[in-house]
Amino acid sequence: MTGDPIICGCNDVHRSTIEHAIKEKGLKTTDQINKEFHLDKACGSCTEDVQQVLKEVKEN
Ligand code: FES
Repeated sequence: MTGDPIICGCNDVHRSTIEHAIKEKGLKTTDQINKEFHLDKACGSCTEDVQQVLKEVKEN
């Protein structure tokens, strides 16, 4: 992934915003991220992308 794509179109949440929250707030699971950004309240199609961002941040 390059740039700063929108991860969750329903809530207009960009990748950088999620990355920042993972680092600053110590979020460790997709559940925590979903709650933080209310991602589970809408379509839920971004779940895999959220998992991918989480994985990549952990690896770096
Ligand atoms: S794209 Fe994230 S809930 Fe719809």
